[in-house]
Amino acid sequence: MMPLKISILSLIFLSQTIPALSAKERCNPNDKKALLQIKKSLNNPYQLASWDPSTDCCDWYVVQCDPNTNRIVQFNLFSANISGQIPAAIADLPFLETLVFRKLTNLTGQIPEAISKLTNLKLLRLSYTNLSGPIPTFLSQLKNLTFLDLSFNDLSGSIPPSISNLPNLDALHLDRNKLTGSIPDSLGKFTEKVPDLYLSHNHLTGSVPRSLGDLNFTVLDFSRNQLEGDISFLFGTNKTIQILDFSRNMLEFDLTKVEFPESLTSLDLNHNRIMGNLPEGLSQLNLQYLNVSYNRLCGQIPVGGQLQSFDASSYVHNKCLCGAPLPPCN
Ligand SMILES: *[C@@H]1O[C@H](CO)[C@@H](O)[C@H](O)[C@H]1NC(C)=O
Ligand SMILES: *[C@@H]1O[C@H](CO)[C@@H](O)[C@H](O)[C@H]1NC(C)=O
Ligand SMILES: *[C@@H]1O[C@H](CO)[C@@H](O)[C@H](O)[C@H]1NC(C)=O
Ligand SMILES: *[C@@H]1O[C@H](CO)[C@@H](O)[C@H](O)[C@H]1NC(C)=O
Ligand SMILES: *[C@@H]1O[C@H](CO)[C@@H](O)[C@H](O)[C@H]1NC(C)=O
Ligand SMILES: *[C@@H]1O[C@H](CO)[C@@H](O)[C@H](O)[C@H]1NC(C)=O
Ligand SMILES: *[C@@H]1O[C@H](CO)[C@@H](O)[C@H](O)[C@H]1NC(C)=O
Repeated sequence: MMPLKISILSLIFLSQTIPALSAKERCNPNDKKALLQIKKSLNNPYQLASWDPSTDCCDWYVVQCDPNTNRIVQFNLFSANISGQIPAAIADLPFLETLVFRKLTNLTGQIPEAISKLTNLKLLRLSYTNLSGPIPTFLSQLKNLTFLDLSFNDLSGSIPPSISNLPNLDALHLDRNKLTGSIPDSLGKFTEKVPDLYLSHNHLTGSVPRSLGDLNFTVLDFSRNQLEGDISFLFGTNKTIQILDFSRNMLEFDLTKVEFPESLTSLDLNHNRIMGNLPEGLSQLNLQYLNVSYNRLCGQIPVGGQLQSFDASSYVHNKCLCGAPLPPCN
């Protein structure tokens, strides 16, 4: 009698709960399976405690489902105590549009090839981790990317030229790594959008490719590398550059005849080997920031615009710059 009683009871139980649950559960079973595999690969960290297989994965922390398709479209893991590598099972979330691993200093290994399967990605941010190895060329297959941030890692090797095959990129952050080699020509050959480029705090060498003068960039931050030569082709009155930071490089060129575009709001060239005079044109701009300290400039600081409102530290340690805010010229 007992077994029968139990099975009748459990039938009643099932008939009441299971249909209700399955009607409510939005999570796609393939996504749930992939997420549980990811949780396991990361050794069941505390931050993924809400990932309980008996609950709807669309309610779990760190991830988000698309309200129409109920597929996982966002994965945003940050500031967690995670040790290990990016799990290969990430490739089994094919609808991901946003993938973030950020501020995870114990996340190690290379950027896995699994990521190349995520062709719907629009935002990929692997930042403030301990990832090492090269910037993989397969990233250029993610044609929908608008934002690629690999900053603050231990990535090494050179910048893959194919990165410019990303037609929708708005911003490329490769700063604060250990990248070497020269800047590829292709960074001046983006064909549709022209992304903001952040390459600072690396070990990039050589001169800046002329091709970069052919595009209308808005932001170029190439500071703290070992770049040489002339960058005057990045200026000119028909450009649209707003923020340009080449501080702490080894640039060597004459600034005297450079024409600055009206769009320029911030110019940092400190710690280079730039010579000549500060052009009069600087006084026509609506500059919010200027720093030309620690170069080989000479002559009077042009009078007008914002130029006298900057601190003397913006101009110090040149060959013979003079005039306000520095001491008067003799
Ligand atoms: C990283 O791992 C070390 C060693 O297991 C541990 O002591 C440290 O707390 C971890 N840090 C973070 C932020 O997870
Ligand atoms: C991270 O986890 C490790 C072991 O899992 C633990 O020893 C360490 O104290 C944790 N660190 C932080 C910052 O929570
Ligand atoms: C990052 O990796 C380096 C070696 O590659 C290691 O020395 C360092 O302790 C790691 N940092 C953390 C926070 O795990
Ligand atoms: C970009 O995303 C759309 C849908 O958002 C998708 O149809 C398309 O295949 C993706 N592009 C590539 C190159 O995968
Ligand atoms: C700026 O003008 C010069 C000469 O007029 C031209 O060669 C160059 O392509 C133009 N640059 C941009 C970014 O429009
Ligand atoms: C750059 O922008 C200027 C001003 O908007 C425009 O005249 C020029 O054609 C643009 N050049 C390129 C290469 O897009
Ligand atoms: C300009 O750069 C120098 C060198 O890095 C720095 O000491 C100074 O504070 C900077 N000035 C301003 C106004 O930022």
